[in-house]
Amino acid sequence: MSTDNFLDLLKKEIETIDRSHTSKRKEKVIDGFTSEKTPRAVIAGRKYFIFNSNDYLGLRFNKRLKEKEKKASEKYGTGPGAVRFISGTIALHQQLEEKIAKFHQKEAGMIFSSAFAANQGVIFPLLVGQRKNTLINDKVLVVSDELNHRSIIDAIRLAKLPKENKVIFKHLNMVDLETIIKNASFKFDRVLIITDGVFSMLGEVQDLKTIRQIKDKYDKNFKNGILIIVDDAHGVGVLGEKGRGAEEFCQTEVDVLVGTFGKAFGTDGGYVVSKKTIIDYLKESAATYIYSNNLTAGTAAASLEALKIAQEKEGKRMRQKLKENILYFKKQAKKFNIPLAADSYHPVQPVLIANAEKTRTIVRKLFQKGFLTTAISYPVVPQGKDEIRIQLCANHSQKAIDLLLKNLVNILKIFA
Ligand SMILES: Cc1ncc(COP(=O)(O)O)c(C=O)c1O
Repeated sequence: MSTDNFLDLLKKEIETIDRSHTSKRKEKVIDGFTSEKTPRAVIAGRKYFIFNSNDYLGLRFNKRLKEKEKKASEKYGTGPGAVRFISGTIALHQQLEEKIAKFHQKEAGMIFSSAFAANQGVIFPLLVGQRKNTLINDKVLVVSDELNHRSIIDAIRLAKLPKENKVIFKHLNMVDLETIIKNASFKFDRVLIITDGVFSMLGEVQDLKTIRQIKDKYDKNFKNGILIIVDDAHGVGVLGEKGRGAEEFCQTEVDVLVGTFGKAFGTDGGYVVSKKTIIDYLKESAATYIYSNNLTAGTAAASLEALKIAQEKEGKRMRQKLKENILYFKKQAKKFNIPLAADSYHPVQPVLIANAEKTRTIVRKLFQKGFLTTAISYPVVPQGKDEIRIQLCANHSQKAIDLLLKNLVNILKIFA
């Protein structure tokens, strides 16, 4: 009887979510993808242009990656058997950690099953330590951008720090950040500044250069200094001439960089790169690394290949094509008076609608016309910034972008 009561509670909870139109469980089921130059998703027998994917370089359909994945699973099997400290690590894991560290010009790297797991594994032990008699004390202040990704927010929550040890700074606001750090001087042993590198809802890049300057200016005001942790899930592979992400784009260096293979690199899994001491410490203390399976051999092999391509001429060509698509989209949007919520030079292009219901309706109408896009509303973006998130990809043809814009303009006319 009491379990039935609980199930009733859950039902009511689900009904409330459904009424608020924020349900996420009614996912579109994709039966496959076409092999066209601009691949389309097949849903219930119909083809849809993909403008809602983080596969910014188009690597998830790359032949070389698929071949490497197949070969590795033939050699190592399809699953890891157990976590690394029990079953042993496979050579591909080690190679991937070395290569990803080298790519980001850091001393060492460490891979996780996802970037979400990476943030949990990295942030928690750097905030409060993992062992019972840890030397890491909690006289720490964590300073976090107000629009940081959920994986960062949850990782901070996990540490259960008192209120006074946590501050949120205004989104992208360096004056606010500096004021917080200045006022905290000599009151804490250390500070962790944590931020997304690219904010995936609006395509904005965090001002990492100024954050680094703030660190350098105030570092001596804290016994154990200031550590900058950046989650650059949407920047790596995309931003910068070499595709090193927000660090390269901002021409600066951060202390700890979290990334994902699951977006521009077209595979799956997360990682962190940093100084060897930090990685050695995390390998002893990141629960999501120690007690959870790592990548399959197939995924590790495909990720190694993606990293290789990203550094070859081919990767450069993909980034160039992506850049051209971004500039073309922006130019055409301006021509057709399509308002954008941010001046983004990232493949995320937010079309400003400023009304949640209208946004959902337009996205539904675009779907009926054969386009996959995303409706984004508060609290994921600030109130009044409801947007249709368009995500561009290197394998989009100009014709596909033209078709999307033509349909969008026609739909917007109905609401004018
Ligand atoms: C900023 C940020 N961090 C982390 C993640 C999680 O990445 P993964 O899918 O590898 O767990 C995402 C994915 O949406 C993200 O946008």
